[in-house]
Amino acid sequence: MNPVPQPIIAPSLLSADFAYLGKELLRAEKAGADWHHVDVMDGHFVPNLTIGPPVLRSLRRATKCFLDVHLMIEDPWAFCDPFLDAGADLLTIHVEVLGDQDPKGRDGRELLQKIRARGRKAGIALNPETELDVILPYLGEVDLVLVMSVHPGFGGQSFIPSVLSKTRALRERHGFQGWVEMDGGIHRDTVAACAEAGCDVFVAGSALYGALDMAEEIAVFRERIRGIELA
Ligand code: DX5
Ligand code: ZN
Repeated sequence: MNPVPQPIIAPSLLSADFAYLGKELLRAEKAGADWHHVDVMDGHFVPNLTIGPPVLRSLRRATKCFLDVHLMIEDPWAFCDPFLDAGADLLTIHVEVLGDQDPKGRDGRELLQKIRARGRKAGIALNPETELDVILPYLGEVDLVLVMSVHPGFGGQSFIPSVLSKTRALRERHGFQGWVEMDGGIHRDTVAACAEAGCDVFVAGSALYGALDMAEEIAVFRERIRGIELA
């Protein structure tokens, strides 16, 4: 058991005002954000559409801060290079589109290796109903595991507490030492349970971009995480 090492707070741009993305990035940074979480949706893997490579490229020009790009798309093979070219620091791919679910039967580990070979960080994500075992073959190729604590596609949903057993098992049973990121329904009353279950990256959209005072809300997050021992 170690104290949570440098908790990372990553406001999700999905809850920002899309008419002012550059300003919203800076607002989050001034409030104390460590990373920006950028949700990419293709209208197929999830029933929503958001940001493509050209927008990411503009975000890249607007900030030097770490861009954590969450690909909720059916074909990450087609879009991996465009998002890396656009300036993603971390690309996270959903396990549900790899392996048997890939119509071309490609090895998802090669895609993750490709991201790292380009000097960026690689992540694997799993939905609330996906068993943890499915990601185990990929653990050696990733810097981060993203555990979805809501059904992907929209902000503002309620946290699903049953996923905490997955993050705990990642740390305790599988000894995963990379970043463990929780995404969905995180706010001041759910953040500590995530830290207790081994998370060190905390994504929050509505709770941070929707806060009256984002700096104060991030400070509350940090206060609630402080002193918690990592599972
Ligand atoms: C949902 C996205 C999340 C979303 C979280 O599919 O992956 O990153 O922005 O939003 P909140 O924090 O409002 O649940
Ligand atoms: Zn996300």
